[in-house]
Amino acid sequence: MPVITCIDDLRELHRRRTPKMFFDYCESGSWTEQTFRENTADFQDIRLRQRVAVNMEGRTLATRMIGQEVAMPVALAPVGLTGMQRADGEIKAARAAEKAGVPFTLSTMSICSIEDVAEHTTKPFWFQLYTMKDQDYLRRLIQRAKDAKCSALVITLDLQILGQRHKDLKNGLSAPPRLTPATIADLMTKWTWGLEMLRTERRKFGNIVGHVKGVEDTSRLGEWTAQQFDQKLDWKKIEEIKKLWGGPVILKGILDPEDAILARKVGCDAIVVSNHGGRQQDGAISSIRALDPILQAVGDDLEVHIDSGIRSGQDVLRAIAMGARGTYIGRPWVYGLGAMGEAGVTRALEVIRNELDIAMAFTGKRDIENVDRSCILVPAGFSGVWD
Ligand code: GLV
Repeated sequence: MPVITCIDDLRELHRRRTPKMFFDYCESGSWTEQTFRENTADFQDIRLRQRVAVNMEGRTLATRMIGQEVAMPVALAPVGLTGMQRADGEIKAARAAEKAGVPFTLSTMSICSIEDVAEHTTKPFWFQLYTMKDQDYLRRLIQRAKDAKCSALVITLDLQILGQRHKDLKNGLSAPPRLTPATIADLMTKWTWGLEMLRTERRKFGNIVGHVKGVEDTSRLGEWTAQQFDQKLDWKKIEEIKKLWGGPVILKGILDPEDAILARKVGCDAIVVSNHGGRQQDGAISSIRALDPILQAVGDDLEVHIDSGIRSGQDVLRAIAMGARGTYIGRPWVYGLGAMGEAGVTRALEVIRNELDIAMAFTGKRDIENVDRSCILVPAGFSGVWD
């Protein structure tokens, strides 16, 4: 077993052990990848304070996200195609999350279906919804999430159309992969991945295949998104979906204070400040820079979460100290999954947990609930000097 000291170790193993098209899918931003790069880089501009001679004994990271108990304020973000990073990937990740006591969010574009994940786990998970043109399918999808007892609906607002990711186009990304000389050459070096994939039947988009009438080929994410996702999504439709669901709702993809105010108006249990991991609007502000203005606008009466760019427990601490109530990791758990399956997701969560715990102790706090702005040093003008 290799010694894993940080998320980057898992990333390197993921790169070595997973077919290139899937590693690249995870590691892509859109177009120039400016926002993808800045998401991580901007976190590092926030410094952590160090306090000394403060009793550090008896620390706790337990808190609540949307009123639900979590062992630490870190959820697994919805990520598409994770059953291609490793066979049965979503089931493995959901189990690791369950054991760690943190929420798992299943993507609409997962390989394992909602029912499959529910059958192989014992606690409710969250379901992420893409809004589709096919209203009948959309209603059935929401009903399936209800039947599976999902405990929150995470509605993604920033992907009615897909940002262009150059690597996916060049690699001919599809699920399952199409066999071309290039993919065959790559797969020949990824034996464990291939053998596990041969043993599972879950190799297609499980929430879609067999559930959408008249759609023959879902394998190419880009084409399917262009055909099926609802470009007309607006606040009125969000309200309708909310009613249809009738349970806790999290609105994901908010990057602007004006949209945060509209989200509050439509009513939701939390928003996620997010630019989709830098995969959509390239040139958009990083999530961590967007956080403070959004907190100023709605933070007093709306729960605010954040994703995009978190790669360590120190980053989680930075976000919580800024005022977020919860955070999501996406790529870190996918690196873990691609590196070592369920054990890798567990390891990713352990790494983040340990880093968060120690970093919090060094700031002089023992309870994550008491972490606040006094724990960090934020450079002047951090949230923008733009007009
Ligand atoms: C889907 O969520 C993607 O970013 O590819």
